[in-house]
Amino acid sequence: MTGGAKLRLGGVEVSNPIWLAPLAGVTTRPFRAFHAALGAGLVHTEMISATGVSHKNRKTFRMIQNGGGPRVALQLFGPNAGEMALAAEMALAVGHFSALEVNMACPMPKVTKKCGGAALMSNPAEAALMVKSLKAFGIPVWAKLRITDRAIHPLPIGEFCETLITAGASLLILHGRTPQQRYEGAADKGAVCEVAARLPGMIAASGDFFAPEDAAFYLSGGCVAVLAARGALKDAYLIPKTLAALGFPVDERFVAPSFADQAEAIIKTGREASLLEGAPFALITARRMLSGMFKGCPGVSSLRQSCSQCRDWESFEKSLTEWLENVFPR
Ligand SMILES: Cc1cc2nc3c(=O)[nH]c(=O)nc-3n(C[C@H](O)[C@H](O)[C@H](O)COP(=O)(O)O)c2cc1C
Repeated sequence: MTGGAKLRLGGVEVSNPIWLAPLAGVTTRPFRAFHAALGAGLVHTEMISATGVSHKNRKTFRMIQNGGGPRVALQLFGPNAGEMALAAEMALAVGHFSALEVNMACPMPKVTKKCGGAALMSNPAEAALMVKSLKAFGIPVWAKLRITDRAIHPLPIGEFCETLITAGASLLILHGRTPQQRYEGAADKGAVCEVAARLPGMIAASGDFFAPEDAAFYLSGGCVAVLAARGALKDAYLIPKTLAALGFPVDERFVAPSFADQAEAIIKTGREASLLEGAPFALITARRMLSGMFKGCPGVSSLRQSCSQCRDWESFEKSLTEWLENVFPR
């Protein structure tokens, strides 16, 4: 596979099919900007509560205001089509998004108890109505869902997907675990590819993408895009490494980044997070990035330890810079 060429996937023009997944508490604006700079073809917001947006909850609304940008999919979760449409209208008034995505995948009780997330997979009529009502905004509507357990769900997954496509969905992102599995066990990549073969051009994949071969498996199985989730936390450079392995153009510095480049990326992302979301969140973001970087670097455990003790952003930045100067004196 090659290319500077643009692809049109799910109604959105992208440069490649390797995307950043929605990750609650993680894929905020600075984190998305880092992965977009590394070459991700598209990035996701974290899931955002439609109820919170429509009630103008301060924290939720800030997520929307900090949300827009080129090739960003806005993911919303909510209890019904009316609330989703209201939230979408308010979001599109303050930001530009490439696609509106309905979360039909979240298995957590705080979401499913209110009829959102994976609960929608037991309510195909409401799920289809959500898609139909979001179509009115004139941008592609996507849904993220999970493979299902026939004993629990009224429609087999292929038919559920067809229902959403008939309602107007342009792309379905299918996670190869059932809602009951939550995040445990292996993702069933074969089950995702089976649905992709049945619905050509309509399925993007999620689940156990930890190495370039995982993405290659999904793409050769008929999926049009693959989302990096925990894989991108474990290895911050998974996306560019995968792009290189698949033959997409990518800056060589991102495939084998120097330790100085890695430190610079953490500092840039952390500074932005500190400004936008405050020091506690910046520290969480930076520590998370640190755990997925500096692989094989001598003495990195002392860095991780000293950074874990920092209580403000300035001391984190100082620890990182001093450590780098000690380990790699100029
Ligand atoms: C910390 C965390 C937060 C997540 N948040 C969301 C979310 O906001 N919306 C969503 O659709 N999926 C969410 N997911 C699911 C991921 O997008 C992805 O589908 C799942 O982790 C499977 O991929 P993986 O096995 O490669 O990690 C989350 C997963 C994790 C681990």
